Amino acid sequence: MNISMSKADIGVFQGCFHTPIVCDVCRASAAECNNRESEEVNMPKGAQKMRVAIASDHGGFGFKEPLARYIESLGYEVEDCGPDSFDRVDYPDYADIVARKVANQEADYGVLICGTGLGMAITADKVAGVRAATVTSHMFAKLARQHNNANVLCLSGRFVSLVDNMDFVRTFLGTAFEGGRHERRIKKIMREDDPNFTGVTSDR
Ligand code: RB5
Repeated sequence: MNISMSKADIGVFQGCFHTPIVCDVCRASAAECNNRESEEVNMPKGAQKMRVAIASDHGGFGFKEPLARYIESLGYEVEDCGPDSFDRVDYPDYADIVARKVANQEADYGVLICGTGLGMAITADKVAGVRAATVTSHMFAKLARQHNNANVLCLSGRFVSLVDNMDFVRTFLGTAFEGGRHERRIKKIMREDDPNFTGVTSDR
């Protein structure tokens, strides 16, 4: 499936200055885009070598292919982990595939799309090593990386537009973990993956 939005669909009009996300939509859909700013893609160094595993259920299937193509257009290697049709499937099956790829370092990031983005995140986050975040705003995409060092991005295919989801993907993949005081908190998150961790007592 190709991205088949017209310029009018995405609000691109002759002579208008495009925002980066609109430029990206133009690029991904092969629409004409004369905006010089379109080359300013917010990608970290070495991003070309980063691998993104993507999957959906039927609630997110319509966005999976456009998002996969978009992520590729940003310079990432994308592995489509299914499904292959709009047929009803169980989101935990696909969340598991992508989450394990991230946990096993077969992918640097995961992107999961279901109806809400919730079931995918709940499932993916149970896999040791995964920090999954459901993102429904630009700032959440940014903070999920800066503060939470999330490695799996979960999106809504039913309540968020494709263009907004493209912005979230671009922002998430292009934002670095801030470290510093957040490092300690990430270590505390990851204690929950340790079967020997019995819970917080006095070490707060
Ligand atoms: C499927 O109907 C729906 O429950 C699923 O896509 C997702 O929203 C679950 O969290």
